[in-house]
Amino acid sequence: MTKLYIAPSVLAADFSILGEQVSLAEEGGADWIHLDIMDGRFVPNITFGPMVVSAIRKMTKLPLDTHLMIVDADKHIEAFREAGSDRITVHQEACLHLQRTVARIRELGAKPGVAINPATPSSTLTEILSDIDLVLVMTVNPGFGGQRFLPGTLKKMREIKSMIKASGRDIRLEVDGGIDSSTTPLVTAAGADTLVAGTSVFRKPDVRRAIAELRESVNKKRASR
Ligand code: DX5
Ligand code: ZN
Repeated sequence: MTKLYIAPSVLAADFSILGEQVSLAEEGGADWIHLDIMDGRFVPNITFGPMVVSAIRKMTKLPLDTHLMIVDADKHIEAFREAGSDRITVHQEACLHLQRTVARIRELGAKPGVAINPATPSSTLTEILSDIDLVLVMTVNPGFGGQRFLPGTLKKMREIKSMIKASGRDIRLEVDGGIDSSTTPLVTAAGADTLVAGTSVFRKPDVRRAIAELRESVNKKRASR
């Protein structure tokens, strides 16, 4: 069975003590660190760029899972790779020549992923699945942390899970937005194997405990079945 990965999003962390926050996540058993890059164009918000990614690279040995919510990703993927991103995920809706972009990410030595917004159907992935290592199903509209999980995305997760199985390839199914101990049982039952969590990790008084609670919330569901 695929191991459940937890990828805390630093978007919800206290940036004045970012190093400490990332270390706590690592000690708490985080598998990846999720980095939300927003450009004020594809999404309404602006976050940070490669300079901050390279600072975070020095804070942890964990893989850096970089989620680009930007237009013109082609112009920037090399800089994010050089800054230390291990995985680079681009949006299906933001890339004119998606296959070229994904191929370039792989050529640069990173693992490519494709993210889809809540209104984007699973069928848009059929022609790109064989080129990627991760599908990111947005469970909120991207742009901000702390939004409410959209349950309408569950059906799509199940569809994508079977597409992945049929492909026979090792592709992670990641979910992002409103993931906490109440939504974790729903998304894992629908096939998600990688959870991005901002608010439910970094806005909790104990970051390490919060990660453990997310993991336990899946087990509780399994035990009660
Ligand atoms: C949303 C970002 C998410 C966000 C998740 O645009 O892609 O990664 O940080 O935050 P929470 O867990 O607070 O919904
Ligand atoms: Zn994200």
